[in-house]
Amino acid sequence: VMESTISITVVGASGDLAKKKIFPALFALYYEGFLPKHFTVFGYARSKMTDEELRTMVSKTLTCRIDQRENCGDKMEQFLKRCFYHSGQYNSEENFAELDKKLREKEVGKVPNRLFYLSIPPNIFVDVVRCASYSASSSTGWTRVIVEKPFGRDSESSAELTRCLKLYLNEDQIFRIDHYLGKELVENLSVLRFSNLVFEPLWSRNYIRNVQFIFSEDFGTEGRGGYFDSYGIIRDIMQNHLLQILALFAMETPVSLDAEDIRNEKVKVLRSMRPLQLDDVITGQYKGHMKGGKAYPAYTDDPTVPNDSLTATFAAAALFIDNARWDGVPFLMKAGKALHKRGAEIRVQFRHVPGNLYKRTFGTDLDKATNELVIRVQPDETIYLKINNKIPGLGMRLDRSNLDLHYAARYPREIPDAYERLLLDAIEGERRLFIRSDELDAAWALFSPLLKELEEKKIAPELYPYGSRGPVGAHYLAAKYNVRWGDLS
Ligand code: BG6
Repeated sequence: VMESTISITVVGASGDLAKKKIFPALFALYYEGFLPKHFTVFGYARSKMTDEELRTMVSKTLTCRIDQRENCGDKMEQFLKRCFYHSGQYNSEENFAELDKKLREKEVGKVPNRLFYLSIPPNIFVDVVRCASYSASSSTGWTRVIVEKPFGRDSESSAELTRCLKLYLNEDQIFRIDHYLGKELVENLSVLRFSNLVFEPLWSRNYIRNVQFIFSEDFGTEGRGGYFDSYGIIRDIMQNHLLQILALFAMETPVSLDAEDIRNEKVKVLRSMRPLQLDDVITGQYKGHMKGGKAYPAYTDDPTVPNDSLTATFAAAALFIDNARWDGVPFLMKAGKALHKRGAEIRVQFRHVPGNLYKRTFGTDLDKATNELVIRVQPDETIYLKINNKIPGLGMRLDRSNLDLHYAARYPREIPDAYERLLLDAIEGERRLFIRSDELDAAWALFSPLLKELEEKKIAPELYPYGSRGPVGAHYLAAKYNVRWGDLS
């Protein structure tokens, strides 16, 4: 039997994502022994660079996660020896043919498998795929392409992108990344739900009052204003990262753990949702602010952002799933940049205990006595359940306590970066954590009409100070559904 080899080509090799995430993830996989025996890594971009220069650039961002690990330096050297560079235009068949030639030299005598990671702006996805596919078509191994969002700006442009990609690729060659799906606690969601009897039976409108998906960053667009301004927070975070988590949270039990079975359930729940209504969304934009003697910039101070930009850097939304399990339960989302804290959490607020025997000990504020399950995706991965508990001692006084699974204490080992898991899955052809095209269509169908309306009506975002908790409008929106936002812990 012929051995196989894999060539991993990072298109857009000198970009930020490649340097910060992709090369380090590839090295981490190599370091841990997850890459196949025969592999090469190629960087492709427009800038002129030698192999050596690429290696120097890449080496600056490689880490062994925990420094001073054994053999780290040696492993880095071995890894870097397998890294090469080819400079070319993104729309040049000729340049890709040259790359193809170099790839073939490394593939001699082996079954050639090829993975392309498109770490480039979406307007050149199709060019690259077209150029790369000409030369790849003769190979006997597989060819897969990883693409990163934005997948269009709305239903139409997304469908058009899919149509163009499919001129050159089959659906099963396209790996659409949503890196939130590669996060440890997001992957754990299904384990929590479907392998614990104490959760799944409670997972419905009968016991759950509302669910919150919260994303918060304590920094602004800082240099990415150019990209961000034409997308905004709803497209950047909600339509993909938060909605994906919601789908995993709310889907029915899949037939199996097979990628198609899981994605079928996600599509089903997305298609059961009501498209977002303007009334159920509020948007915000951060403004400059002085804090502790330091001046924090406004979003519109970013040199790449127009002064009169109406782009949202914050949004809160209420979503509804019109199916038997979730009828009437508000699913709230909140996402913002330049807020007071960095973190991402899922918060599940349970209903009040009927006829609560202990209600007097809590006073009138029943909210303070309801159970809440918190899944902190980052930083500091934790799952905890707020329960009522007797304060030890004489008398009967109750207290809210946490049943707490703190990852750092329970699993004292490094959690792999999302990109490691996703790259490994793409190499192994595991599609479970990638977005299928019908899933993408369903996600856009929910957000497209709203985004169009926001833009057409030129709805002005509510300004909030950099480093604050965001616009007060988010509280009114939640209050409309009798919900109080949980505070990032
Ligand atoms: C990206 C967004 O998808 O996710 C960025 O484009 C955001 O705006 C980033 O900062 C957040 O990812 P993480 O993994 O740092 O939470």
